[in-house]
Amino acid sequence: MKTDARILVVGATGVLGRPAVKLLRERGVVVRALSRHPERAADLAALGAEVVAGDLTDTASLQRACQGATRVLACAHGLLGRGRWRSEAVDDAGHRALIAAARDAGVERFVYTSALGTGADHPIDFFRTKAAIEAAVRASGMPFAILRPSAFMEHHVHNFNGKGLLEKGKVQLIGPGTKPRNFIAGSDVAAFAVRALLDEPLPFATLDIGGHEHLSGLDVARLYAQAAGVEARVAHLPAAVARALAVLARPVHPGMARVMRLLSLPDDAFDESFDGAAALEARFGLRLKRVPEFVREQVVLAGPPPAH
Ligand SMILES: NC(=O)c1ccc[n+]([C@@H]2O[C@H](COP(=O)([O-])OP(=O)(O)OC[C@H]3O[C@@H](n4cnc5c(N)ncnc54)[C@H](OP(=O)(O)O)[C@@H]3O)[C@@H](O)[C@H]2O)c1
Repeated sequence: MKTDARILVVGATGVLGRPAVKLLRERGVVVRALSRHPERAADLAALGAEVVAGDLTDTASLQRACQGATRVLACAHGLLGRGRWRSEAVDDAGHRALIAAARDAGVERFVYTSALGTGADHPIDFFRTKAAIEAAVRASGMPFAILRPSAFMEHHVHNFNGKGLLEKGKVQLIGPGTKPRNFIAGSDVAAFAVRALLDEPLPFATLDIGGHEHLSGLDVARLYAQAAGVEARVAHLPAAVARALAVLARPVHPGMARVMRLLSLPDDAFDESFDGAAALEARFGLRLKRVPEFVREQVVLAGPPPAH
């Protein structure tokens, strides 16, 4: 494990970035944490990270941030972005600029966070972009590792599902909520990111990462209801309405339009399954968080449910 690395984390304030910075700092590694809003990263500064202002759409800021870094973790994205921060500018052009800045600064290892199921023929542009950036990373000449995690529990189990039940007494799902999906805790993905950054030699080139369970949106809502001792109240926005909203939203908010379209696709439009969780645990000596355990933690954190 190379603990004298100097690591630039782009996306340091995200669900994956924050625990990755924490794990790196616990190992005494020098970390530079890049954010568009450094004032929101006081917690990372308190961990001893150097917080710098930067933006994937500002090439000069990436060149500055890469100076002196020996390794880079790229874990930012613009899935929901619009205007200056639309996905094309952040996920495509911004990442190409970051790869070039890292290579020019002599970075000796580049770790890119892609996503499970990414491919050139994916029905959603965001995942096609991830595939194109994977190819750019491979062609960069830098030693690299690519992480391909499934959906993060913090966003897809909690923020987009159970949080609604805990805070408003109702979950709002787009479509029927029947598609089985694999979930992993972003905090667990951070452990793989740290291995990719510090292990000698590089432990893998491309790694699919996922958790144990395959659950639908309805399954997740029921888990929250059970854990909180409340009724599983779920409202559905019909998929056809979501598709129409996606078309209307595209000119003003392409990120929102993308997510509407993604969630309104039929269950078999693209696969979100992963069957290698036990093998990952054995190979890396880790224990991956289970969804019911994550849900119980969120319910405890939320405190008693409000009366509705
Ligand atoms: N969430 C998932 O379910 C999931 C699943 C598979 C793969 N992934 C991938 O995992 C990585 C981390 O995702 P996440 O869910 O942890 O992210 P997140 O919580 O949504 O946070 C987004 C991060 O991206 C940064 N960012 C956005 N636009 C930026 C820009 N223009 N310049 C610099 N930084 C920018 C934000 O930083 P500031 O706001 O501080 O600038 C923030 O740190 C991403 O590559 C994502 O595509 C995520």
